[in-house]
Amino acid sequence: MITDKILSAYEQMAERYNQLIDHKPHNAYYDRPNTLALLPDVAGKVILDAACGPGKYAEILLDRGAAVTGFDLSPTMIKLAQERNPARGSFFVHNLATPFTMFADASFDIVLCALALHYLPDWTLTIQEFRRVLRPGGILVISIEHPFFEYNYFNSSAYFDVEHVRCVWKGFGQPVEVNSYRRPLGECITPLTNNGFYIDQLVEPRPVPEFEKLDPKHFHELNHFPAFLCIRAVKRE
Ligand SMILES: C[S@@+](CC[C@H](N)C(=O)[O-])C[C@H]1O[C@@H](n2cnc3c(N)ncnc32)[C@H](O)[C@@H]1O
Repeated sequence: MITDKILSAYEQMAERYNQLIDHKPHNAYYDRPNTLALLPDVAGKVILDAACGPGKYAEILLDRGAAVTGFDLSPTMIKLAQERNPARGSFFVHNLATPFTMFADASFDIVLCALALHYLPDWTLTIQEFRRVLRPGGILVISIEHPFFEYNYFNSSAYFDVEHVRCVWKGFGQPVEVNSYRRPLGECITPLTNNGFYIDQLVEPRPVPEFEKLDPKHFHELNHFPAFLCIRAVKRE
């Protein structure tokens, strides 16, 4: 099953991913600053970090005074998130594609889901669960791989399909095959707008200056073509 392959890949990469996450250019100087910029002041807010990885976002949000609950498919990622955030936050294993039965309705002010939705073939249940656990007017912030980037990167010839794709990541220790799903732009928007959200910000991010010192080649590329897309959506009444 594809989910098992995704889990296995992240289990293999988790320790190295955690070691690199503070300063890995695509995360630290491209995704995170642009995604965090979509959040309001989080002090005192109750936040769900869905697919939290090793808890770097959670660390930042906890430092800013939020109460954070995080979950992830990978047990090793959860162990690392707990070690990164000792005695604060709450982290446990859960699959984004299954109902969030552990959470009551309207129990979060904000849901964050960074760089993970492309691991799901169908977003519908997940977006419905994000909506259910958000309070009225609550905010969902997601970052995803940009559909135009993926279309090129995976040499697709079927733009409108949701396609199972795979590639090999070499930046986290031994090369690891990573399976995911590429989808057209419409399939990134309609699961939100058809399931009780309106989109109030959509950002095609640019890398921040620190990126250039560490990786000038990709800094140049990302200033000419986006790899990620960041979206803020608000729960409709
Ligand atoms: C690229 S990492 C991003 C981690 C974190 N959100 C961040 O930005 O630092 C993707 C994460 O999604 C998790 N993931 C993949 N499929 C998942 C699923 N079905 N349910 C929960 N987590 C999943 C992986 O284990 C991994 O930790």
